[in-house]
Formats: sequence, structure tokens, C-alpha cells
Amino acid sequence: RARIGSEAWLRYETVESEALREEYRNACAAVAIAGETKVLRTAATELKEAMRAMTGYSPELVAARDLEASGVIIGVLGGGDAAIDGAIGGEADAIGDEGYVIRSMRGSAGESGRILIAGKSDRGALYGTFHLIRLMQQREPLGGLHIVETPANGLRMINQWDNMDGSIERGYAGKSIFYRDGRFVEDLTRVREYARLLSSVGINAISINNVNVHREETKLITTAYEETLVKVADILRAYGIGLFLSINFASPIAIGGLSTADPLDPAVRGWWAERASDLYRAIPDFGGFLVKADSEFRPGPFTYGRNHADGANMLAEALAPHGGLVIWRCFVYNCLQDWRDRSTDRARAAYDHFTPLDGQFADNVILQIKNGPMDFQVREPVSPLFGGLRETNQVLELQITQEYTGQQKHVCYLVPQWKEVLDFDTHAAGEGTTVAKIANGGAWNRPYGGIAAVSNIGDDACWTGHPLAQANLYGYGRLIWNPSLTAEGIASEWIRLSHSCDPAVEDAVLGILMNSWGIYESYTAPLGVGWMVSPNHHYGPNVDGYEYSKWGTYHFADCRGIGVDRTIGTGTGYAAQYHSPWRETYDSPESCPDELLLFFHHVPYTHVLRSGKTVIQHIYDTHFEGAEAAAALLDEWLSLRGKINEEDFELVASRLAEQRDHAKEWRDVINTYFCRKSGIADGQGRLIY
Ligand code: GCU
Repeated sequence: RARIGSEAWLRYETVESEALREEYRNACAAVAIAGETKVLRTAATELKEAMRAMTGYSPELVAARDLEASGVIIGVLGGGDAAIDGAIGGEADAIGDEGYVIRSMRGSAGESGRILIAGKSDRGALYGTFHLIRLMQQREPLGGLHIVETPANGLRMINQWDNMDGSIERGYAGKSIFYRDGRFVEDLTRVREYARLLSSVGINAISINNVNVHREETKLITTAYEETLVKVADILRAYGIGLFLSINFASPIAIGGLSTADPLDPAVRGWWAERASDLYRAIPDFGGFLVKADSEFRPGPFTYGRNHADGANMLAEALAPHGGLVIWRCFVYNCLQDWRDRSTDRARAAYDHFTPLDGQFADNVILQIKNGPMDFQVREPVSPLFGGLRETNQVLELQITQEYTGQQKHVCYLVPQWKEVLDFDTHAAGEGTTVAKIANGGAWNRPYGGIAAVSNIGDDACWTGHPLAQANLYGYGRLIWNPSLTAEGIASEWIRLSHSCDPAVEDAVLGILMNSWGIYESYTAPLGVGWMVSPNHHYGPNVDGYEYSKWGTYHFADCRGIGVDRTIGTGTGYAAQYHSPWRETYDSPESCPDELLLFFHHVPYTHVLRSGKTVIQHIYDTHFEGAEAAAALLDEWLSLRGKINEEDFELVASRLAEQRDHAKEWRDVINTYFCRKSGIADGQGRLIY
């Protein structure tokens, strides 16, 4: 059947087996909520809707006390329902505020019994309800359930980079679902659908405007937008999602009529406090501010000779009385670098700026740190700032939107990359100090922690431009809920929910997704050096696109070799920002992992990698193989004709054809460039131009 693209993974096909339909109808004969909150109502409605679509039966919504023998009770621990309290029972201590327990309780003879979805909070109960729905979408039996879940991260956030003119910075899926022509859209249906999708994978916070806050967006914190923000917050709140705004640090000047934005100026502090009070009067559970300051031409405290702690703490003081948070980004570097200057290293910047301030940030400030030291490249080392701070709240920032990973024209399933980041052992407090533990606050017992990511959606019918890119949004939510899930497991789940439970489909799509990151890496910039893209839009090969620019992103290729010397002895010293053993591992070309060699070292083309190949032969081989593998993805997909709905099938097929052609372009540009630079022929004599 033709499907509504906006369903994504909340796709509720009729259950094929009559027996299973019957089982689901019995198990969910009625739906009761114990307690009365908006979020619990949402949970009940979601379950009812899912049941209606999957079984044709629409369970009645009843009060918990009126529930006959069988049905589902959704409730909150301590909310006055004994069955719910009993269901959580001994598990109460094991789960956090947003965790849940699902239990099937057997009824008396002949009855199918009850299912209890017990949350520690109503958000937990909603997540539990979506879990139950997921089981039915995957045609799982509902007997004997005893599921205990709790999120690993407190803050599970999405950052929209949407502008009020309707454009999206680094958006590859149409226009904004929030704004058009300088204002909010009238019809917020799509926002509600988005909230459903996010909440179904456990997202609990969202900032709704670009971190680069332009003129109109600066006014979002004024009463001019209050009414609409209240509406948006209501929609999000019903799905357990808190609203945040990105702010312009220079707002006191831009819209406040003040002559300064100096964070230590009492008038400036007073102005922010007033803004915060107004916002909280309208939206009592407003989340707080996301701030990009002194970064890529955005204003910040440096203008006034103040540091980032001064800037963040000033905003924190304004928000603290209302329980709000300041999320302060660490993407701070010199973007006016002279390419002739080899001593400045952009990779060092975040660490150099922020480690001296450790311990100086207010309790309600969280630093948001990109996963790598540069900028969301297909391959980078993990940011050494993770491990460099102990007395500061931190969240990890990931990029779901595929700015440097194929712009949703190429398939690139990013969950494996994110898992590598989360599993990276910084050794900051000895072995086992993983990024996952630092980000969630566990490593140093911080009050706040979590993960944020830049969204990949727009108003495209399928949300993400490339239907397979939906797996990244889904996977992001699932992975940050539980970083020990596998990338394969998450992908399989997504395929079953979004496309089909047919094992042939699952096999083929899983193969495509799981190989996609490696394939993309193989035909783009080699061995961790990054960039080699066209300036501004960042799509397509351009080896020297950023070589003589001010952005600090160089590969230093000449006729002898390539790579950036970031060693301690002869380079920029960046390797010293890591704890041992990484410091030594990265510092030596002998022990540096191949995939990061050119990030840390400048080596001759004839340098022999740990793999046994020379650098130049590695470049040729990976580019020939990568382009071939990209072409094979299309063939694999075409084998699914008839097994996947028409619309998705055709759209993915056309994207994969574009990827095949574009991968060839990458191959030829990169290979030709290095063949000409090095004067070394391909060992296999393949065609290079
Ligand atoms: C990248 C991206 C910008 C974005 C910036 C950021 O540099 O290209 O568009 O504004 O990151 O994270 O702030």
C-alpha cells in the first residue's frame, strides 16, 4: 500500500496472523491510565491508535479502577495504584527517573491477564508504552513480559539548526518544519509528528533554532514570540520533551537597547534575568539556553576581555532560579587562521580554551563537546576534551545530519561511528573511563550529563531526504538510551519497524547499512586527514578546497608526502592532550592506527602502513574498492524490488545511483590528484587520469 512517509518507524501495518491479532486484542482489551497527566494521556492514546491500526480493534480507555480482568495499565510509581507499585516493586532502585518496567501478569483462569507499564515518572511510562508498541510492530508475543529499562543518559537532546526563513543550516531534507518566511508555521501538525517520533526513541529535549542565531531568531526570547512558543512547548511537553532555545550572546545590544553585552555588567545581567523570568512565566518547564559564543564570528565574552566561564555563568545565574540549564558549546577555534602558520592547530583549540576553566562553571552549566576535535568528519580521533575536564558537566555533541558524510544523498549509517566514540576509553581516571561514562556524568559524579545531536530532518515526505537516513535518527535515540546496544541490533530493529519483518529484507538492508560508513570513508579523504571537500556546501571532492583557507583544515600534501604533524616532538603537540597510552600510541607513526595516520603524522607516500601497504597504494586501493562497493549497494537494493513499498524503493534506488556516480567522481579526483602529486603509479596499473 502507499504509505504516509511521516510515519517513519511508527508504521503500524495490520498484523498478518489472525492468532497473533487475537492475542494482542486480548492483551490490550482495554487501556487504563493510573493517574492523570498529559504525558500519560499521550501514552494511552498512542497505544490505542497503534492497536487500532495493527489489529483493527480500538481498545476502550478506562480508569484503572474500572479495568476488567484484562488490559494494559499505564501508570507512575507512587501514583496511588497498587498494581503499578507492585509491578516496579524491587526494581524501583534499579531504574532512574525516566526508566520503566513492563510486566505481563497472569489473570485468573481463562483470562489473558494484564500488562502493567510502570514508569518512575510519566515520561518513563510513555517510553514503556512505545516499547510495548515496538514489540507488537515486530510481532513479538506479549506473554511473560518482564522488561526493566532505564536510560543511560539524563539529557537526550536534539539540536535543530533551523532558521526562521525556513532554511536549515546543513539540512538535506527540505525546509524547516518549524518556520517559514520569518515566522513560525501556522500548522504545527508536523511538529507534533516529529515529537512523537523523537519521544518514541526516548528523546527528552530539543532546541528549536540554529546555533547561529540571526536577527529574527534573536527575538525568540522576547514576549513577541511568547504565544507561539507556549503552543510549541505544549506539543512537546505532551511527548515528554523539554523546549530549549539557542540564544545570541549579543542580545542585550541587538534587542535590549543596551550598549554592551559584557557578562559582568549589572545591566546586562539584569536584562537576562528579566528575559528568563518572562520565559518561565509563560513556560514554567522551559529547558534553557544553547549557546554558540566566540565561535565562527558569533559574539561572545571575548569581546569584553571575559572568558567562557564568565559568559556561561552570567546566563546560568539568570536561569538558575527557574531550574534552567545553560548548554555552552565548545566549538571554539580560530577561524581566521593564516594557512602559512603551522603552529596554530585547530584540533587543539577546544581543549586549550576549556581545560583551564574546569571547575569554574556554575552547577547548571553544561559544556557541549563535539565528538571530534575538528568538525564531524567521517573519521577523526575522539576529542581529548573528554578526559580533560573533571569538575564540569559535559554533553557529547554528535551530528546526525550528514554534512560531511554524504549529505543524505549517500547512505552512511552513523551508529557504528557513534559507538566507537562512546566506547573510547580516555583513561582519564585509569582504564574504563569511556566517553560514555564521562558524557553521562557517571565518571566524575556530575549532576548533569547526556548527549545532543544535530537533527537530520526537514519537511520532506520521508523526513530525511534519503529514506535510509531515518535509521540515523532512530539509531541516535536508541543508542543514547542504551549505549550497549549494538549497531546491528539497532539497524535490524529499525528495518523491521520501518520496512518489513521479512528476513530477506532485513538481511539486505542490514548489509547496506552496516557497510555504508566504511564505504563512504574509503572513497573520500584518506586515513583520517579529513576535508578535501568543496568550500561552503561541503559536498563533493575538492582536495585543495580548504588548503589555502583561513579555517585551519589542511592536509599539507606535496610531492613527497601528506598529513598533519600533530606529534609532541616535531608537530603541534596535539597528541599530548590525550592521556597515556593514547598519547604515545598516537604520537608514533608505528603505533598510530592506520585510519588516523594522516591526522597525526606527515609521512611520505611510500610510508608503509600497519596493514603492510604504502600510503599511496592504500589511497588507490581504497578508492577503487570504495567506488565499486558503492556501485554494489545499488545492486543489492534492486534485489528488494517488490519487497519494499514502491515509494521508498524508488527513492532509495535513485539516491544509490547518484551515490554510485558520485563515488566514481571522488575516486577519480582523489586518485588523479595523488598520482600527479606523487608521481607514483598504481601498483595494479588501473586507469588514473
Ligand atoms: C560546522 C558547520 C556549520 C556550523 C558549525 C557549528 O562548521 O559547517 O554550519 O554552524 O559547524 O557547529 O556551529
